[in-house]
Amino acid sequence: MLLSASCSMTTRDNIEVVTINNSHASAEISLFGAHLLSFKPKHDNRERIWLSGEAKLDGKTAIRGGVPICWPWFGDHPLKNTAAEYKSLPSHGLVRTQCWEMISCSDTDTGTHIVLKPKSTQGLGFSGKANLSFIVEIGKQCSLSLVTQNIGQDTFSYSCALHTYFTVNNINQCVLSGLSGAYLDKTQGMETFNTPNPYRFSGETDRVHLCQPSQVVIAEDNIKTTIHSEGHDSIVVWNPWQVKSVSMQDMDDAGYKTMLCIETASTQGQMIAPDKTHTLKQVIK
Ligand code: BG6
Repeated sequence: MLLSASCSMTTRDNIEVVTINNSHASAEISLFGAHLLSFKPKHDNRERIWLSGEAKLDGKTAIRGGVPICWPWFGDHPLKNTAAEYKSLPSHGLVRTQCWEMISCSDTDTGTHIVLKPKSTQGLGFSGKANLSFIVEIGKQCSLSLVTQNIGQDTFSYSCALHTYFTVNNINQCVLSGLSGAYLDKTQGMETFNTPNPYRFSGETDRVHLCQPSQVVIAEDNIKTTIHSEGHDSIVVWNPWQVKSVSMQDMDDAGYKTMLCIETASTQGQMIAPDKTHTLKQVIK
């Protein structure tokens, strides 16, 4: 694959990384998982993406931080506890631990445009026939589009997420806005609660918000990170907090203090008819 002038290839531990540096921003994408590791727009030079200092970049383990792609299921597979053969199905699907191929790479006045495809979309736990592509546009903003096309004869259902880890200075100071209505609390057996207002963080948070805002904002003092979403049926908000951070081998003990996951997601079962496509999109500003 011929790289455009703004791109170069590097290796980090055991993964190949595309480094992008154009007049608007710099960014890094790991080909393992098509995983965005960094996005820094030049107008403020502020890193938007959190990557764990303990992340394993061995090309086998899912990377802790960045933007994991969850597909074709989000979280645990729905059949995980129904039969022995499904027990070992990985959390968040089949593609975040695959090597992806770069299909195209080009520069325009507005930035760098890259298309990636996973080596395979098949595997235990998914019987649909799908084409999957991930379109990354690095400019003043970072636009991520996950496009699923049904290339089979039968309608299939799937779920997915762009599981972005945002970097924050201090989670205790963050205020999240743009969410409303009911959420399912994963820390409390999926019980339903109402979205708090103001929305602040003081403990483990693992929530599936069943609303479809086009914009969510993380505000901290005068700093604002804006997350635009399309094609979603929910927004997932996750912070493991202290006890879980300590228990996770690929997370620094204090890692939870400087990250917040805001995930543009389709968690309720997205149906796609033959020949149709569904696009899940997140734009980071
Ligand atoms: C979030 C889930 O999306 O991802 C959490 O809601 C989960 O329940 C988190 O713990 C991290 O998942 P993983 O598989 O990367 O450890």
